[in-house]
Amino acid sequence: MNQKIRIAIDGPSGSGKSTLAKKIAREMGLVYVDTGALYRAVGLYVKRAGVDPSAGLQVTALLPQIQLQLRYTDGGQRVILNGEDVSELIRTPEVTVYASTVSANPSVRKFLLEIQKKMAGEGNVIMDGRDIGTVIMPDADVKLFLEASPAKRAHRRYLEMVEKGEKVTEEEVLAAVIQRDKADSSREIAPAVPADDAIFVDNSGLDAEQTLVKAMEIIGEKLRRTR
Ligand code: DC
Repeated sequence: MNQKIRIAIDGPSGSGKSTLAKKIAREMGLVYVDTGALYRAVGLYVKRAGVDPSAGLQVTALLPQIQLQLRYTDGGQRVILNGEDVSELIRTPEVTVYASTVSANPSVRKFLLEIQKKMAGEGNVIMDGRDIGTVIMPDADVKLFLEASPAKRAHRRYLEMVEKGEKVTEEEVLAAVIQRDKADSSREIAPAVPADDAIFVDNSGLDAEQTLVKAMEIIGEKLRRTR
């Protein structure tokens, strides 16, 4: 196939988007772009600057100081913030809250739009996020919207956190998941809602491999019909 492929995966936090996107990327030879990492890097910068992430104008004033790059290695995507590799630092629970808060700021979204559109334009890409099918790649070849129940998503996140040695209860993780879903889907700008032509995949009862099989069936079918 010499036409370039573009796949969008959206869905709430903990639905398994990045796990699925990485597997599809490997299977199909696509570049995987984790767009949440860009919002996380901005969140980290704002946190380090000691600025309240909900203080719109102050956050906007910081943006010209931020340079972001995504680098690809065998181990996946690395996020470079002003020359520093922050790929691990952006995964803390605190930065997660900063990322979610700054993502509701229109100037942050505008700032990150260009870098994402550029990557989308290069093609042979699979991008995951919240607004990929609606804003970043409205003309993607395939748009998946991945879902799982809040309890299931919280359980997965809880296991990941415990594995990293973090001291949390499953109830706390569930409360944070519900809170972030609400913030991400109710914000005025680019809310995390499915595109009209997105195909839903509920993976509450599926493991990562089964989710991959289901997604590959959908992608294969869609590409056969439209190409
Ligand atoms: O996918 P994630 O958990 O790493 O994303 C971090 C935050 O960034 C999340 O709270 C919502 C926001 N985000 C967004 O608004 N749009 C995207 N395309 C990706 C992430």
